[in-house]
Amino acid sequence: SHYVAIMAGGIGSRFWPKSRTSYPKQFLDILNTGKTLIQWTYERYATFIPKENIFIVTSDEYTSIVKKQLPALPVENILAEPSRKNTAPCIAYISFKLLQKDPEASLIVAPSDHLILDNERFKEITLQALHFVGHIKSLVTLGINPTYPNTGYGYIQHDVLPVADGIYKVKTFTEKPNLELAKTFLASGDFLWNAGIFAWRVKNVVKAFEMYQPEMYELFDGVKADYNTAREKAAMDGIYPLCTNISIDVAIMEKADNVYVIPSSFGWSDLGTWNSAYDNLEKDYLGNAVAGDNVIVIDATKCMISASHDKLLVLQGLDDFIVVDTKDVLLVCKKEKEQAIKEYVAEVKRNK
Ligand code: GDD
Ligand code: MG
Repeated sequence: SHYVAIMAGGIGSRFWPKSRTSYPKQFLDILNTGKTLIQWTYERYATFIPKENIFIVTSDEYTSIVKKQLPALPVENILAEPSRKNTAPCIAYISFKLLQKDPEASLIVAPSDHLILDNERFKEITLQALHFVGHIKSLVTLGINPTYPNTGYGYIQHDVLPVADGIYKVKTFTEKPNLELAKTFLASGDFLWNAGIFAWRVKNVVKAFEMYQPEMYELFDGVKADYNTAREKAAMDGIYPLCTNISIDVAIMEKADNVYVIPSSFGWSDLGTWNSAYDNLEKDYLGNAVAGDNVIVIDATKCMISASHDKLLVLQGLDDFIVVDTKDVLLVCKKEKEQAIKEYVAEVKRNK
């Protein structure tokens, strides 16, 4: 059968101060659409995957938010991680669990915080990926045409000829290159961005863990008899402190030799930073994007402005700035520094 695991344990630090560790961006309606990012993600899959087969893997501390935001989801489909260890352990957890339940399971692994505009096309490509992994022992990822040298993404290079309609064998996978390398990749015209949406048979990703992350494999494999019992939580409490903090991209995708990519266009945006929110919001005639009411903008251009509900924000004379007001924090930051917001958050925490 087909399953989906939505990863929702990240903290969205580049969207600070709107996104907080206690309430990160996947649970927010960043673009003022009426629904949060995880609600859109869940609904996107719920149209073609039965809801018993949709799982959310998240941090223990977010399970109550998930229950509240996704009331239709069976509660036993929420997997709580005792600590934050990045996406590889998260994927190992759901994969070993599903392997017990359904050894032939095919799984989509997806982030909870992306924007996808063309849901029909998205569904077609997802089903194509599921079909392919059902027949070929493969790890599939979706690729996006890159538009600028973003250093926060994975870069994928593939063979010229497809192995099936629109599906290519991957030659190289480079996670988060430095700026120089990202520029080279982009200029070569030979690379795609990794969308971070994967498809595989769980038995094949488990095989990949065995080959490339043998320690993590051992940890999860050792407790398989406990899955679906009351001891699952205790088992995870034991495993997680011993797990390396590592992303699936670095742990497996960069290393495996059976990776395939489907170049995709379905109006994808990572919504990873304030600039990507800016790109997806309507702008006034001077190019300012405003999220929230209660804002007066004078002689400013190309600003990304997010206001808090209970305060009037008056902004004059700024060009190319991110201005985010919340109840307790006001951020004013040059747009070009958006990747550094992560570091400012760390700095704030150190000084508290
Ligand atoms: N359960 C769980 N536990 N989820 C997590 C954890 C964790 O410890 N860490 C991150 N996540 C979730 C995030 O909430 C997000 O939905 C998803 O996993 C991806 O994590 P990010 O932290 O957002 O990854 P990234 O954006 O830096 O990079 C990934 O996505 C890019 C595209 O957006 C990589 O796959 C890149 O290669 C890719 O280009
Ligand atoms: Mg991300």
